[in-house]
Amino acid sequence: MNIRHLLTEKVHAAMIAAGLPEDTNPAVSISARAQFGDYQANGVMGAAKKLKTNPRELAQKVVDNLQLDGIAKQVELAGPGFINIHLDQQWLANQLEAASGDDKLSVSQATEPKTVVVDYSAPNLAKEMHVGHLRSTIIGDAVVRALEFRGEHVIRQNHMGDWGTQFGMLLAHLSDKLAGNEVAETALADLENFYREAKVRFDNEDGFADRARDYVVKLQGGDADCLALWQQFIDISIHHSEEIYDKLNVTLTRNDIMGESAYNEDLPKVIDELVAKNIAVEDQGAKVVFIEEMANKAGEPSVFIVQKSGGGYLYATTDLSACRYRAGQLGADRIIIFTDARQSLHFKQVEITARKAGFLPETTAYDHCPFGMMMGDDGKPFKTRSGGTVKLAELLDEAISRAEQLMAEKIADFSEAERKDIARKVGIGAVKFADLSKNRTSDYIFNWKTMLSFEGATAPYLQYAYTRVQSLFKKAGINATSIEQNMLIDAPQEKALAVKLLQFEEVLDQVIADCTPNLLCSYLYELASLYMSFYEACPILKEDVDDAVKLSRLRLCDVVARTLKQGLDLLGIDVMDRM
Ligand code: ARG
Repeated sequence: MNIRHLLTEKVHAAMIAAGLPEDTNPAVSISARAQFGDYQANGVMGAAKKLKTNPRELAQKVVDNLQLDGIAKQVELAGPGFINIHLDQQWLANQLEAASGDDKLSVSQATEPKTVVVDYSAPNLAKEMHVGHLRSTIIGDAVVRALEFRGEHVIRQNHMGDWGTQFGMLLAHLSDKLAGNEVAETALADLENFYREAKVRFDNEDGFADRARDYVVKLQGGDADCLALWQQFIDISIHHSEEIYDKLNVTLTRNDIMGESAYNEDLPKVIDELVAKNIAVEDQGAKVVFIEEMANKAGEPSVFIVQKSGGGYLYATTDLSACRYRAGQLGADRIIIFTDARQSLHFKQVEITARKAGFLPETTAYDHCPFGMMMGDDGKPFKTRSGGTVKLAELLDEAISRAEQLMAEKIADFSEAERKDIARKVGIGAVKFADLSKNRTSDYIFNWKTMLSFEGATAPYLQYAYTRVQSLFKKAGINATSIEQNMLIDAPQEKALAVKLLQFEEVLDQVIADCTPNLLCSYLYELASLYMSFYEACPILKEDVDDAVKLSRLRLCDVVARTLKQGLDLLGIDVMDRM
């Protein structure tokens, strides 16, 4: 149920009845303040301006034609032509009852599911996953979960960096280790270290660089032994990523991997086609696309190199090939890619070129969703004390151990296993929520203290709100599913909570449209806060509370808990019954 869509339809019909043109936008939005109703329709002003008529008179006409019987209890005209809509409590109660009896909380399913290809995480396998990949991984996963929850057809594509010249030195180094009777798993236990060692040899050791280049040639030539060695390296590195996905509660699996190497065979064809279509031209030995659409102030086109002068292919070539595969083979209606903002130019160039070449039809949306950087307390890019990149695995372990300390301060009769389980959910949840709740495109400061706080918009706060409902039910000795009492929405706190609960779908739609999980984070925080106010104002288990009221309120609490749980689950954050 999307209330905004419903009201938009109704207001639009009234606008047509009032003589306005078909394309008039009702501009329905959630009211900023309760005194302006629950929703507002602000579209009359724009329409009146176009028609050069009096907005208030026009708004009155629209209101006269507005059929919201049973949905709104009051509709009023305000200011120059705002239409304020106050929803009817009985209607809210009926909607909530429907949500209460539904696994999906009344979130409707896409009637014509779209095929959405989502490219996220995509670490480079030559090195260990670092904090830079955290954002892509968890933002992408949240959007994927929201899409699937709405019933869209999602195809995950983990575009791992598994190819390139750096594998030459890595394979040369690995083959030496294996010759020295080391086992690959041990040699590659610390990828970061391994990379560093190989680089030192590459820079300093006589003959090593030549051997490394040799490996590159053999690898590209498809030499079987070399490919087997490469495969071994890749498998172990993928395994490192899988451990992190597991810890992070991310839905990516091995089946979602479509690494850069998967496109190798297609790359010459991509270039041939671009040349045949006169889109790429020869320039100083290289193949280049000059993009006039992206010319600079001096009128010089943007230069997009698709093949190096030595014949080598680039990141760009692979992404063009990926475009064609996703639109053509996978049948994508929409392609979404999550990387940091520094790659924005690249993806713009890819899109324009792919559209010209016909790799990407107009009907396929191409959304590069950039994100800002994670900063340290000093406002500089997040680094270890010694200035190195922070390994994701270590960061997550620290989160869990910090949560464990936090738990130790609380006196409760938890078993060791339960304590560990809670610490993991709180620690990982805190890191994820802190990241997901920020505006995607801005940089943000990583701060342990705020993210693990029980106050403010944090995972622990929301997890705690969830446990409060669970303990309420325990105390009441009632099973939520057994409540048959009709819902009674009476007190203002109940009404505010009801409206908020029924906005779940609306928020998810926005998250999906703009790839902004932060909206879901704010929503859940507001929901939990409204719950706390409701809990303060509306007694539930007190002796003098009427049975019907008590059961209705308990049922309301249950919808709150389930919405919190479902919402957090879409962010990949777990809840627990107590903490
Ligand atoms: N491996 C790349 C990186 O670490 C991200 C790949 C994103 N996806 C793509 N289709 N280029 O920056």
